[in-house]
Amino acid sequence: MALIKELDTGTPIRLAATTVTLTIDGQEVTVPIGTSVMAAAATMGTQIPKLCATDMLEPFGSCRLCLIEVEGRRGTPASCTTIAEDGMVVRTQTPKLAKLRRGVMELYISDHPLTCLTCSANGDCELQTQAGAVGLRDVRYGYEGENHLDAPTDASNPYFAFESSKCIVCNRCVRACEEVQGTFALTIQGRGFGSKVSPGGTDFFSSECVSCGACVQACPTATLNEKSVIEMGVPEHSAVTTCAYCGVGCSFKAEMQGDKVVRMVPYKDGKANEGHSCVKGRFAYGYATHKDRITKPMIRETITDPWREVTWAEAIDRAASEFRRIQASYGRDAIGGITSSRCTNEETYLVQKLIRAGFGNNNVDTCARVCHSPTGYGLKVTLGTSAGTQDFRSVAQADVILVIGANPTDGHPVFGSRMKKRLREGARLIVADPRRIDLVKSPHVRADYHLQLKPGANVALINAIAHVVVTEGLVDENYVRTRCDLNDFETWARFIAEVRNSPEAVEEITGVPAADVRAAARLYATGGNAAIYYGLGVTEHSQGSTMVMGMANLAMATGNIGREGVGVNPLRGQNNVQGSCDMGSFPHELPGYRHVSDDATREMFEGLWGVKLQSEPGLRIPNMLDEAVQGRFKGIYIQGEDPAQSDPDTQHVTAGLRAMECVVVQDIFLNETAKYAHVFLPGSSFLEKDGTFTNAERRISRVRKVMSPMAGYADWEVTQLLSNALGYPMSYRHPSEIMDEIAALTPTFSGVSFAKLDQVGSIQWPCNEAAPNGTPMMHVDRFVRGLGKFMITEFVPTEERTGAKFPLILTTGRILSQYNVGAQTRRTENSRWHEEDVLEIHPFDAELRGIADGDLVALESRSGDIAIKARISERMQPGVVYTTFHHAKTGANVITTDYSDWATNCPEYKVTAVQVRRTNRPSDWQAKFYDEEFSLKRIGGYLDAAE
Ligand code: SF4
Ligand code: SF4
Ligand code: SF4
Ligand code: FES
Repeated sequence: MALIKELDTGTPIRLAATTVTLTIDGQEVTVPIGTSVMAAAATMGTQIPKLCATDMLEPFGSCRLCLIEVEGRRGTPASCTTIAEDGMVVRTQTPKLAKLRRGVMELYISDHPLTCLTCSANGDCELQTQAGAVGLRDVRYGYEGENHLDAPTDASNPYFAFESSKCIVCNRCVRACEEVQGTFALTIQGRGFGSKVSPGGTDFFSSECVSCGACVQACPTATLNEKSVIEMGVPEHSAVTTCAYCGVGCSFKAEMQGDKVVRMVPYKDGKANEGHSCVKGRFAYGYATHKDRITKPMIRETITDPWREVTWAEAIDRAASEFRRIQASYGRDAIGGITSSRCTNEETYLVQKLIRAGFGNNNVDTCARVCHSPTGYGLKVTLGTSAGTQDFRSVAQADVILVIGANPTDGHPVFGSRMKKRLREGARLIVADPRRIDLVKSPHVRADYHLQLKPGANVALINAIAHVVVTEGLVDENYVRTRCDLNDFETWARFIAEVRNSPEAVEEITGVPAADVRAAARLYATGGNAAIYYGLGVTEHSQGSTMVMGMANLAMATGNIGREGVGVNPLRGQNNVQGSCDMGSFPHELPGYRHVSDDATREMFEGLWGVKLQSEPGLRIPNMLDEAVQGRFKGIYIQGEDPAQSDPDTQHVTAGLRAMECVVVQDIFLNETAKYAHVFLPGSSFLEKDGTFTNAERRISRVRKVMSPMAGYADWEVTQLLSNALGYPMSYRHPSEIMDEIAALTPTFSGVSFAKLDQVGSIQWPCNEAAPNGTPMMHVDRFVRGLGKFMITEFVPTEERTGAKFPLILTTGRILSQYNVGAQTRRTENSRWHEEDVLEIHPFDAELRGIADGDLVALESRSGDIAIKARISERMQPGVVYTTFHHAKTGANVITTDYSDWATNCPEYKVTAVQVRRTNRPSDWQAKFYDEEFSLKRIGGYLDAAE
């Protein structure tokens, strides 16, 4: 593997259909109108020297190194700011230009430390390269005059250093922070010779910087440089792979020295991120080689015994023989499994295959159960397919953006940056969220309306918006008539027009002023292309599925599905949550969302798998746990998932796990669920295996192995070993063969193969004969289900109610530096930003309870209580408190209830009635957790590693 070098055209290549043809150095070149001469030259292989230009940014024209001569024009214009024109004749290499460029470069070098040989960027520095390119051999001015050579270094950021003595004030970092990331954390302070880059007058760590890395990427010198490069040196080889954190699915070049990752560099050709990144994918990959990794299989008789390291053969044999024993004693359906949205499509497919074909039942479920299962249900019923409608790029065409129950700048940061860019260009914004998320007001972005609704009132709000559309004559009648089922529409329109659904009637329920709802509804319906983006603030409710259908109703009624800039778009949580659903992880569906009761589908699978399949849906996760508590479900195989921490009502989850006779956990770390396990099978990180992930826009991207599995096997190989031990033979030699099988059995994947992905980079499903290049946008001429189906979305309040004992509502979420339950990010320097979970509480509620910022408080619900530090914050409205659930010791899910979505059982994490009061001690659960944690480590022999 060589180091992959991407072409930098200096300025962006424009996408216009109209082209112009010009002549550069005697050669004709045709480019889209609006392209710079610099970029036009780059496309024909001519690199004009440059310093302030890079193709991620708009041209700036400050360094004067890229000068050219244009026939018929006076002077030597900068090629980065000169737009290519038809018939233009350009010269990029003349003695005059060479002299001018050398002169410019000489000035830069005269104020630059000449320490190239010992510089961390030696060999990977544009200043060094360009000095060579312009032929600079000497500096005439000497180095004695006034200079910046003693300027300080800011090493406060955990991942990159700012060595300001090397800065050439090209402004690329400042512009990257503004144009690409949209954070505006950097400025140029001072003027002329005194100008310098500043993170807002403080250090990087304390500044507004969100560590996305865009400035580091843009910097042409070693001024902004990864600390890993400073420590390890420049990388030697690289491979393109996909981030293993969130559902944006950013592409990265894993740049390596031997089998060590030197850095992860966002890949410009990655269609989901187009060269951008966030702190997690860019920098927080250290967990993959963390000392906590378990690399030896382990078994134990009971969950109070110490773990015993064993060979792979022994561990697999134990798991298989226990599963067979349980089935012989308690019946075929007494075992099941959970697939992982962290693992690849191929691994997920294999686990559900093992369960359906090897276990002989449909007791398979996935962690999507607890996040986006209502998306699958709601969009399938209304539109016909369980996935978002658009590609990410589509947001650039949106005129009105409605963000509901999502926090893109924290949860899906790279997409958040795209969205902010469009908003800065003038798109209008409506935010519906109980919390004042950053998008409501951030640099150069301000929501037109923040509908700060009460948790649990989503359906009432979406109905009220739709009521305005229907009763004020804002329905796109032509669209509805031609694209949707008219009978269903009319029934729905009558329902939604009822006065009880009006903004005024539901004001009490939603807490949102009716006038704001009316104004927002008018804006959504009449403002041009209107796009909905939503997250777990929609799905994790007892009416999650109803709300998804409510959004689909609204989009259909206003004609906002089926073209660029519109749609209903779930922002998926985990890297492969879309893929794990696609791959048949739900108990009622085979891969491709086909119901297990469908005879023809089952027969197809039976033919290839060589077994008879059950036609009845199996158990969902909560049902498996209920059955375990009842003594009827006895064994489970859990790959890459930690229900003991991530699922609601922890006591119930652990009671279920405790009641089982064989819990097999496969993970990279000894997670919370492993406390209840009898067999532990070491997992492999995304760096250690080949496969694919599917992101929130249905984009299938390659995951590429850059190091050997630390425990000897990739996850798919372990599943295969287990299947073989169970007597159901599997003999895949490579994940590509698994994908071939998926393609053979799944019509929406029939055109997908590793060879094709290697050729084109990534593909959005459906990819088949009808759409050989994939499908960026769904439902273009007709809905997948035929006619769009309007559904009645009656508002039914959650049974979780506030009252005198529990007067506040708790809602949960994640923040930028943290990732879900923290198995990964807790084991990285990201912990420096937020070392613990805190409870955000409004000053009014805090004062009422005598709570000061930083006080330890007891957070109590009907399910349990925990102690947590309070942070006074006006992001919440009075009556609502908020926390993250990143740290196991916090036990946030001890207090969440077991209410769930009526259709899919997705837990209602977002609404828990609670009371908050000051305390001075941990809760009983936390005290027990600390005890168990200590004893677990002691008896497991992992005390040293954990300390
Ligand atoms: S890392 Fe990102 S947010 Fe921070 S200064 Fe650089 S570009 Fe701005
Ligand atoms: S830090 Fe780098 S990108 Fe920023 S102005 Fe200095 S040299 Fe240019
Ligand atoms: S936005 Fe998501 S996929 Fe992209 S780098 Fe960040 S965590 Fe990874
Ligand atoms: S690259 Fe054109 S002026 Fe700097």
